[in-house]
Amino acid sequence: MEYYGIFKQINELSISDISKIDFYEGFFAEFYESQSNVTNNEEVGIYLKNAYTTGGNVLELACGNGRITLQLARRGIKVIGVDNSKDMLKILDKKVRKSDLSVKKNIVWYNQDVLNLDIKEEFSLAIIPATTICLLFDDIEKTAAMFNYIYDKLPIGGRLVFDYISEYKNQENKTPIEMVTNESEGIKEFIMWQEFKNFDQGRAIMNFYAERIENNTTFRYLGCTNKKIISGMELNNLISKTKFKQVETIVIENNLIGKVKYVVLEK
Ligand SMILES: C[S@@+](CC[C@H](N)C(=O)[O-])C[C@H]1O[C@@H](n2cnc3c(N)ncnc32)[C@H](O)[C@@H]1O
Repeated sequence: MEYYGIFKQINELSISDISKIDFYEGFFAEFYESQSNVTNNEEVGIYLKNAYTTGGNVLELACGNGRITLQLARRGIKVIGVDNSKDMLKILDKKVRKSDLSVKKNIVWYNQDVLNLDIKEEFSLAIIPATTICLLFDDIEKTAAMFNYIYDKLPIGGRLVFDYISEYKNQENKTPIEMVTNESEGIKEFIMWQEFKNFDQGRAIMNFYAERIENNTTFRYLGCTNKKIISGMELNNLISKTKFKQVETIVIENNLIGKVKYVVLEK
């Protein structure tokens, strides 16, 4: 994990009770869930349109807490979710259990690394939402191998749709620190985060620090995500290493992040 600014200073204090956890683990998985209630209709629309075009089951890579999974399942689409975070899948499981049987029966999920997939079910669309490709693009050969695994499983006309940040709104090397506090049922929480970007190295690192006070005990967490800033050239290079053909790109302006490009590949 890499820390910068105030987060580096906190880390260097070597406070013994700080838990250093992955962003999609424990406290931060719950935080992700609390921040992902609002779903962009344009985003869901792109996945729905492709699901209807391809007409079969959807494989959602890195489905996490099921932000998109549930949206598709509620519209009668069968979704196979895969994620390597047990804590994110626990949140998905909780939400599925609370859903109607008509939704429940449309969702299955597996705790797997998407770079090492083993899927038995058939599907005609694979999706990688929430710019998660930026977490999976460290090794172009591995990413291309994952794409080709999906290609081989798809029927002719099957598709793979993913999105990535094609232009960051904030071109500074660091964004301002953001903070939220929550208080409910006697639990107090404080969370702050900041993104540090190195455009030369093509990396965007988000640092998080949180405190949770429960029954007079303070829990402290330090976390980090490390994403690739993908250039158009790197993306074309990736696609050229796969058997897919690119059939569409759609750019959506996201007020918080910048330009998000959706790439539609077809077998
Ligand atoms: C930004 S979240 C996206 C969650 C959800 N798909 C959504 O649209 O909100 C990224 C997800 O990718 C998962 N992830 C990251 N690397 C992974 C890998 N190698 N294999 C499987 N899941 C991975 C994380 O656990 C996390 O749930």
